Amino acid sequence: MRKPIIAGNWKMYKSFDEAVDFIEEIQQEIPSPDKVDAVICPPALYLPTLVVAAEDSSLAIGAQNMHFEDEGAFTGEISPKMLSNVNVDYVILGHSERRELFNETDEAINKKIRAAINYGIVPIICCGETLEEREAGQTETKVARQITKALKDFAPVEVEHMVIAYEPIWAIGTGKTATADDANTVCCAIRLAVETLYGKDTAEKVRIQYGGSVKPENIEELLSKEHIDGALVGGASLQPASFMKLLEAAA
Ligand code: G3P
Repeated sequence: MRKPIIAGNWKMYKSFDEAVDFIEEIQQEIPSPDKVDAVICPPALYLPTLVVAAEDSSLAIGAQNMHFEDEGAFTGEISPKMLSNVNVDYVILGHSERRELFNETDEAINKKIRAAINYGIVPIICCGETLEEREAGQTETKVARQITKALKDFAPVEVEHMVIAYEPIWAIGTGKTATADDANTVCCAIRLAVETLYGKDTAEKVRIQYGGSVKPENIEELLSKEHIDGALVGGASLQPASFMKLLEAAA
């Protein structure tokens, strides 16, 4: 049995005070870590403060991106070593917004995953198709290709702790959600891609989230599907009440 994982991706939203208040409001209410893993990924500037704010609870804090080098002349970047120094547990890698708007390549994402694993940070690896690709029947090929490139050159024991997020690009922030059955079919294709690379045992352990307009109204149906082990949530993770409802549905 794979434990569900619900992660909130705050993107570039919230003031510092709003972020701290959010963590203080929910931290004592987080369901048992035996039942669900709860993660909030705030803007990078807030990471150290929120790690400390959440330290007496089972809420984990994650970054939304990082560089793959430990240090160097990379103006504006944050390294895996720095995230590890301030006890960040997770990092979202390869989000479609980073791929599209910041030209992130599959090769760079592979290096970032390697760096995260080396520092004991759990990567949440994103993949997903555009509407055009979906309509052309290319969804499964596209996500399998992204995952195959992202997961190149790891050991099975490293891969089994990774989290993969299937986020159809056309469903992000649009209010359109893939049907639970469609999302499950693609998550199954992702699991098969992992199986092809690292074998069935590893593929059965990897957790695969769905992301794209997840909200309290649709989370239960999504989580009822065999290959959907959680959600990566944007908009509905910004309010304590809706984030808590997502956690409760998963617990
Ligand atoms: O990473 C989460 C995200 O891209 C989905 O956003 O607002 O559709 O839940 P949203």
